[in-house]
Amino acid sequence: MNMDALTAVKERHSVRSYKDMDLEEDKRKLIEEEISVINSVSGLNIQLIDGTDGVMSGVSKLFGGWDSLPRNYIAMVGKDDGGLAVNCGYYGERLVLFAQSIGLNTCWVGMFKRSKVEAEVKPGEKICITIFIGYGNDQGKPHKSKSVSDVSEAINPPEWFVSGVECALLAPTAMDQQRFIFSLKDGEVYVRTKKASFADVDMGIAKYHFEIASGHKVI
Ligand SMILES: Cc1cc2nc3c(=O)[nH]c(=O)nc-3n(C[C@H](O)[C@H](O)[C@H](O)COP(=O)(O)O)c2cc1C
Repeated sequence: MNMDALTAVKERHSVRSYKDMDLEEDKRKLIEEEISVINSVSGLNIQLIDGTDGVMSGVSKLFGGWDSLPRNYIAMVGKDDGGLAVNCGYYGERLVLFAQSIGLNTCWVGMFKRSKVEAEVKPGEKICITIFIGYGNDQGKPHKSKSVSDVSEAINPPEWFVSGVECALLAPTAMDQQRFIFSLKDGEVYVRTKKASFADVDMGIAKYHFEIASGHKVI
């Protein structure tokens, strides 16, 4: 069990109000190093980008609650194959929790102006989603959540399975939809999702949360 990540899970909430300041050099370096490790294990082409004006312009009109923008965002880019969205969720949440653990705040942002993203996108690649990152004016607040039985199927589940599902329920999901379902069959954990916008990204995020709390891989 990774204690740093679990503390970060409990402390993380989406933040939509940011200080107008650049990432400090040491924190920027740590984030860039983590991105580089993740890119090499995942094959993704994740990038830390400066500036948000263009990218953010569509967001603030669509969603209430935004107060001020951070100066940076992370572009989740990768090969446009069937697994991109789940992978971006899984590895993006690893970055989100890492950012939280070094004192930064984040918000996943799915509704943005794709044409304005300054990321390098190689042939065959696609921008899947972004994560805004910076120094929050506040720490956000806990979201309303479904219950363990709403999002899982298991008869007399072991404690580790319940811990995994509880941790998945603390994960961010688009519009707080929590449409994933974890199941346990012959000792193996499976996850699936009901169809919805960004449901595959959500499922990847939830899968990462399940694994760090339970110590069990999800298929
Ligand atoms: C895939 C995904 C897309 C999201 N897109 C947006 C967005 O476009 N704008 C926004 O303000 N929040 C967005 N969010 C943040 C969710 O609204 C937020 O995670 C959810 O309400 C749960 O709250 P919490 O993150 O504080 O736990 C997104 C979250 C996810 C996981």
